Amino acid sequence: MITPILPTYNRVDLVFERGEGAWLFTKDGERYLDFTAGIAVNVLGHAHPHLVAALTAQAGKLWHLSNLFRIEGGERLAARLTAATFADTMFFTNSGAEALECAIKMARKYHSASGQPERARIITFEGAFHGRTLATIAAGGNAKYLEGFGPAMPGFDQVPFGDLDAVKAAIGPETGAILIEPVQGEGGVRTAPWAFLRELRALCDAHGLLLILDEVQCGVGRTGKFFAHEWAGITPDIMAVAKGIGGGFPVGACLATENAAKGMTAGTHGSTYGGNPLAMSVANAVLDVVLEEGFFEEVLATSARLRQRLAELKDRHPAVIAEVRGEGLLLGLRTVVPNTDLIAAMRTEGMLAPSAADNVVRLLPPLTIGDAEIDAAFAKLDAACARIEATLKADAAKGAAA
Ligand SMILES: Cc1ncc(COP(=O)(O)O)c(C=O)c1O
Repeated sequence: MITPILPTYNRVDLVFERGEGAWLFTKDGERYLDFTAGIAVNVLGHAHPHLVAALTAQAGKLWHLSNLFRIEGGERLAARLTAATFADTMFFTNSGAEALECAIKMARKYHSASGQPERARIITFEGAFHGRTLATIAAGGNAKYLEGFGPAMPGFDQVPFGDLDAVKAAIGPETGAILIEPVQGEGGVRTAPWAFLRELRALCDAHGLLLILDEVQCGVGRTGKFFAHEWAGITPDIMAVAKGIGGGFPVGACLATENAAKGMTAGTHGSTYGGNPLAMSVANAVLDVVLEEGFFEEVLATSARLRQRLAELKDRHPAVIAEVRGEGLLLGLRTVVPNTDLIAAMRTEGMLAPSAADNVVRLLPPLTIGDAEIDAAFAKLDAACARIEATLKADAAKGAAA
């Protein structure tokens, strides 16, 4: 019999009652170190007092209005985000996929408004993940996610990640934009070389294309800069943001330059909920913390300390861990054993982390973890690896005896 919740997820059989910082607690008091953080969402951990205060204060005043009226919190958030980024304007959404939908529509509309409506095609990259709507599964190009859902939405040309010649070869008279995650998250924690991003920027400029960045997972401090593209020293024309910007409240945004947004006039796009007062109050509270002087430097220092311990872990357990990769606190362990084995062993040790493609275990802690959490993560990972090694040894002994 089907479950009352559509069974599209293989859920872990754990029910959490509350969270505090990087820790989650079950009803019977078991605690887990949370390096999933809602899949790179809870940048300030669980129940951050400043976010709780902002949400509860707003909840007592006004929840929802619709975009038929001015929303002060949204105007404030947009002003702060335009001041802190390349963007001149933005559209607020409730999720990453919706931010991408807006980005894709905006790119098409830009060329249409420029008198070249045929330039509706977008170059995307293998291993990409942009969401689960019809347009974003077509953009992501993952056969597993497209299977059975009818004809894929046309307009996407996929090339290998990091392959500049393939990008050049894919540019045709109907190409309008290039869409890339500066660091692929679901795709296996794969960083686009910063030089490659610069080359894409130059190609876009040379061919009149729009550069769209998907910073849904790698943005909002996760790589140790406000946005990952800052490492490359470039700016996009359009950027999709979500996850961290809401700190756990569903918020997304499609940021753009004035030029890229020129076709998006009144009536061209909309959302009932996007940018509602509750969402805006929390996102503003997230910015209060992450834009504080020194926050990103602290993320980088934390990342360096964690990476050092992970390198030690890899040396201690070469039969389990093949590689440590990633940027800032968007880290991955490529495993020798199936990544799901390590995730299960970590859970037994009281630590949670999600998988990614390329046999990777992602480590996505809150950006606010300290030495206590780093030490706990090391101890739990070390014990999880030892558990797997014991199983490997037992299996080998069995094999020799047989
Ligand atoms: C890079 C990237 N883009 C887009 C999305 C889609 O975001 P959402 O699940 O909020 O629609 C995700 C979600 O994991 C993501 O990692």
